[in-house]
Parts: sequence; C-alpha cells; structure tokens
Amino acid sequence: MRLQHDLLNLQDIQEHARRRLPKGIYEWIERGAEDDEAIRNNRQAFRQLKLKTRVLVDVSERSSRTTLFGKPLAVPLAVAPTAAAGLVWFRGELELAKAAAAEGIPYTLATRSTSSIEEVAAEAPGTLWFQLYVWAERSLSYSLVDRAKAAGFEALLVTVDVPVEPNREFNRRNGFSLPFVPTIPSMANMLMHPAWLLGVMGRYIATTGMPRYENLKGEHKEQITRGGVTRTATRQDNLTWDDIRELRRRWPGKLLVKGILRPQDALRAVEIGADGVVVSNHGGRCLDSAVATIDALPDVADAIGHRATILLDSGVRRGTDMAKALALGAKAVLVGRPCLYGLSLAGKPGAQRVVELLRSELLTTMGQVGCATVDDLGSDLIVPAVASATRNHTQRERDLYAH
Ligand code: FNR
Repeated sequence: MRLQHDLLNLQDIQEHARRRLPKGIYEWIERGAEDDEAIRNNRQAFRQLKLKTRVLVDVSERSSRTTLFGKPLAVPLAVAPTAAAGLVWFRGELELAKAAAAEGIPYTLATRSTSSIEEVAAEAPGTLWFQLYVWAERSLSYSLVDRAKAAGFEALLVTVDVPVEPNREFNRRNGFSLPFVPTIPSMANMLMHPAWLLGVMGRYIATTGMPRYENLKGEHKEQITRGGVTRTATRQDNLTWDDIRELRRRWPGKLLVKGILRPQDALRAVEIGADGVVVSNHGGRCLDSAVATIDALPDVADAIGHRATILLDSGVRRGTDMAKALALGAKAVLVGRPCLYGLSLAGKPGAQRVVELLRSELLTTMGQVGCATVDDLGSDLIVPAVASATRNHTQRERDLYAH
C-alpha cells in the first residue's frame, strides 16, 4: 500500500484500516450506538446541503490558512480526542500529535489516552489541546487540569455529552467492551490480523507491557484489560453547569464545551466564560437519535457566532463537508475516526495523509465555489437557504452584492 497512490480519499483509508484491524477494534472505532442511525444521519445531513457557486471570482491564489485563538492554522482542522489511540498503533497518541504538528493543526489528547499528558507535551512540538471528562470523583479530573496546565496545553475541551454509558451492543457481541476482556472468538480474530498483532500488541508486550490509561494515577491507572475501581470514580451523571464554572476558575487557557447541540446551551456556556463550543454528537457514538451536527450548527451560530468560537465535528469526511461547516459559522472542524484509520496504516505519515487529503479537497471546493480564502466561505453558498440575513456574511460577500 502506497500512501500517495492507493489512498485517494478518506474512504480508501477506512477500507484499508478495516482490513488491517481486528474486528473488535475496527467496530469499536467505526460504529456508534444501538442502530448507528446518528452516524448515517450525520453524513446524510452533509449530503443534503448543496452549494451555490459564485462564478468569475479570481481563485488563482487560494489558501486554507486561517487563525484560531490568535494563532495561525494551516487548515481549519484539528485532531479530535479519541480514547485509546494507542490500540491502533504503538504509542498512537504520540504519532497523532506529531502528525498534527507537522501539518500545522492542533492535536487534542483524550483523558483516556495510553500516553500521558507529560509524554505528549515532551515529544510533540505543536499546538496541544486536552479533552477532559469530569468524573464523580472531581479531584481526579482537577488533577488532570493542573497537569495539562503545567505541561503547556493551550485549550481544555470539556466533554459533556456522555452523562451515562452509551448502549453499544456490538462491543459486547465482539467481546470488546472496555475494559477489554479477551474471549476465544476475539483472540482468534486478532490472530487473523498479524500485522496489527505484531506491530502493535507485540511491541507493547516486548517493551512497556499492555497499554494503560496513562493519565490516571495509582489504583486508577489500569491496563485496558482491567476494570474495577475506576468505573465508580469515573461516572459522569452528576455533571452540571456549576462544573463548567469551576473549570473556568481553574483553567487559564481557552475553554471549550464539547458536545453542544442547542443554542441555549451554547449561550449558557459562553455566559459562564467559555471561549467557545464544539458542536458535536460524539461522532454519533452516544445518543443514536441525536440531531446531525451540521443541522444544529446554524442556530448555535446565530446565538454565539458573533462572540465566541464554534468548532464542529461528527461525520466530516470531505473538503465539501468542511466548506459547509465553515460557511454556516464554524471556525474549524475536528476529525476523529479518519485520523485513527490513517494512524493504523502507517503511524504519523498515515495520519498526515488524512489532513493532506482534506486540505486538498477543501482547496478544490473553494476554487469551485469562488472563494480564495476560508473567510470567504459564507452562508449564501448554502442551499437550502438556511442563512439568516446577518449570519457569517463575509466582507467579500458584502462587496460582491453591493454592486
Ligand atoms: C471518540 N470521541 C471521543 N470524544 C471525547 O470527547 N473523548 C473521548 O475519549 C473520545 N473517544 C473516542 C474514541 C473513538 C474510537 C472515537 C471514534 C471517537 C469522539 C471524538 O472526539 C469526536 O467527537 C468524533 O470522533 C467526531 O466524529 P468523526 O470525525 O469520528 O465522525
């Protein structure tokens, strides 16, 4: 498999990853909850939006560059937090973080990562964000906040859309719940994937032992094959807005609330002092009847677009999806599964290929719709006419239609 020749879009990357990974791991990544409706709906909603091109615009010098929180961004994209990326590649989080740095985009380290906050900060040179789960045992979460602050992470993404354990029947069928409990079929399936078995598990066994949740301390720092204490301590069902208030007090960097779908919630987050929100349904992995994020975005943009940063994820697979999200008020998008798939094929260069493809597709789309810069992507480009009179009308648009 040659990255440049064989992987021409994110679907190609996913297909290669499906063959490389054991079924339990692949489905744990790819699938959502219950009947996978939310995943399909996220994609369908992107598909339903069509673009109305602006013609006769000079697009000979297009750029995907923008700024986010005052810093340059090579492409309006960030790597989404995904738990246990170390299961798809040896020390996967480090590779992903290095890939993001090489591509000039932020990397979000998940609370449940298999490399620690400190390791990632020491080895990855780029912009680092940290994803936080706020647990019943608040002191555990607060110590992560302190460590992320000390390690120089720039933004904290507080995930609020997993108040209870999602219903993922396929994981149970595959014998792949976390903590992972090996069964005869799951072990047999792993043996049928020798590249993964030797290249990932074999390397752990030969070096550091089974991967662990490295950010957890003491008795909570368990191998992913174990459960126990952590389950009770890490419940999230009593999280409220007071917790966001408290985190605002503790965290001096950028604070984003991840998992917002309603304008009222977005507004409340901003009023409490959040710098922005991530419009997300967790990639369709939690509530199977969740609204598609691209459908939820316009109202959120109307509510807070003029005063806070909006990011979006869940189902972004093409440059056209990115263009639609930006046109409707997102400043950038996050991508989860595709980065894991790229990682599973070739480590850092595999993840870089994902970013490269999205950037190239975005630039093509921009050329086609008559936008030389990402700021030129405005809501007038979108059909159906979801645009309000005021939302995200760029200077370019105002100039164009002033004549
Ligand atoms: C996730 N996601 C996630 N989000 C989060 O806030 N904390 C986490 O630990 C995880 N873990 C996780 C694991 C895996 C395997 C996946 C696929 C996803 C959700 C993630 O951050 C993001 O919201 C979605 O992945 C975005 O959707 P796409 O790009 O995967 O469609």
